[in-house]
Amino acid sequence: MSTLAIKNATVVTATDTFKADLLIEGEKIQSIAECGDLKADKTIDADGCYVFPGGIDAHTHLDLPFMGTFSSDDFETGTLAALHGGTTSIIDFAFQTQGKSLQEGLRAWHEKARGRAAADYAFHMVVTDFNPGSREEIRGLVEKEGVTSFKTFMAYKGALMIDDRQMIGLMNEVKKWGGLVTVHAENGDLADSLIQANRQAGNTAPRFHALSRPEIVEAEATGRAIDIAYSGGHPLYVVHMTCEGALNRVRDALRRNQKVLVETCVQYLLLDDSVYDRPDFEGAKWVMSPPIRKKKDQEALWNGIDQGLVHVVATDHCPFCLSQKEAGRNDFSKIPNGAPGIENRMELMYSEGVVKGRISLNRFVELNCTAPAKIFGLSPDKGTIAVGSDADLVIFDPRVEHTLSAKTHHMRCDYSSYEGWKVQGRVRTVLLRGTVAIDQGRALVGKGFGRYLPRKPFSGAETI
Ligand code: URP
Ligand code: ZN
Ligand code: ZN
Repeated sequence: MSTLAIKNATVVTATDTFKADLLIEGEKIQSIAECGDLKADKTIDADGCYVFPGGIDAHTHLDLPFMGTFSSDDFETGTLAALHGGTTSIIDFAFQTQGKSLQEGLRAWHEKARGRAAADYAFHMVVTDFNPGSREEIRGLVEKEGVTSFKTFMAYKGALMIDDRQMIGLMNEVKKWGGLVTVHAENGDLADSLIQANRQAGNTAPRFHALSRPEIVEAEATGRAIDIAYSGGHPLYVVHMTCEGALNRVRDALRRNQKVLVETCVQYLLLDDSVYDRPDFEGAKWVMSPPIRKKKDQEALWNGIDQGLVHVVATDHCPFCLSQKEAGRNDFSKIPNGAPGIENRMELMYSEGVVKGRISLNRFVELNCTAPAKIFGLSPDKGTIAVGSDADLVIFDPRVEHTLSAKTHHMRCDYSSYEGWKVQGRVRTVLLRGTVAIDQGRALVGKGFGRYLPRKPFSGAETI
């Protein structure tokens, strides 16, 4: 088996930062040694750079049929963009079609990804129709398919939303087999009634998307999902949390010793609702659900990270090109919800988090790599740098400054959520299972290199 040495690295894990030489044999990290005269078939000098574990984006939507169109990145373009940005594994969402089985949904997503993905991938199963048939399928998904997390939507009324009764049934069933329920927490009825009121009043601009989904829409649903989970003694993972009100519901839950795991996304940490005041139709770029919040919510989320309330930073990457966003030019409720970001997460979190002193280097690794791997059953192969782990590594040069732009990004989307944003630090080289996947902006692997990752069940002890 061929060997590769990464020399003079400053290795960063969720707990430690140290200088070392790494020896990789085949797909695995073979040894971590003091810097010295390690010999290998090939050597990469990482002097002056950090070496992070490959990023794990626990929330992506590639090739998603949604709101009359498809998200514009498929598994090839989306995972290549992820690799460029230092993300080596993603967990995408396989959707059940209402009236059809979970297995059919899972098969459809395997077909989308197989032979196309360049990075490693796993699936959460989205349950849009919890009935006796889908109940029967849960065990097989956990035990045979390696799909150990299940997603419910409390919003998107008439499309993806399920009611509380179904959510209760799903939580009870998933718990039996060691899975984890995750929830998109927005009150779909409340959002829907505000949407209809705004449409009737002739309020058509993108900003009315945000005004139809105010903080209370999310806070109420977050509290309700948490209460339902509590009543059954279930753990709960809340996806893409955006606001202070929702975080406070988590605080309440912790006071009664409940286990609630929280994910936020980069855009909610860095952007505020002034994006919806941009002229013309520009605000449509940031039409997503939940919407971008206020500055005080950004502060609340950073504090939530600091206090250990927020466990994971993901992207909810769900890009649509401007021509697709045009569907809602005269009606904000028809703008496909979602935005690009899979490529930007690691660099933005380093630049805005570590460089600006909001999080430590180790917390950066924990939020973006280690915690998602542990929570979603990918550890210890993924999410850390340890002997025996997959050699998924990011050589990151903290000295390089660059500017984010749709002109230079690799996502199949004709705008950037962060156009013109100056970033300190750059992904230099990315290894996936010991193979150099990206070097200085050049992709050295292509479609089909990514592998499906069956995941382990949730034991309940996965928080860091
Ligand atoms: O607006 C969003 N977030 N689109 C993707 C689907 C979802 O709600 O996660
Ligand atoms: Zn969602
Ligand atoms: Zn999503």
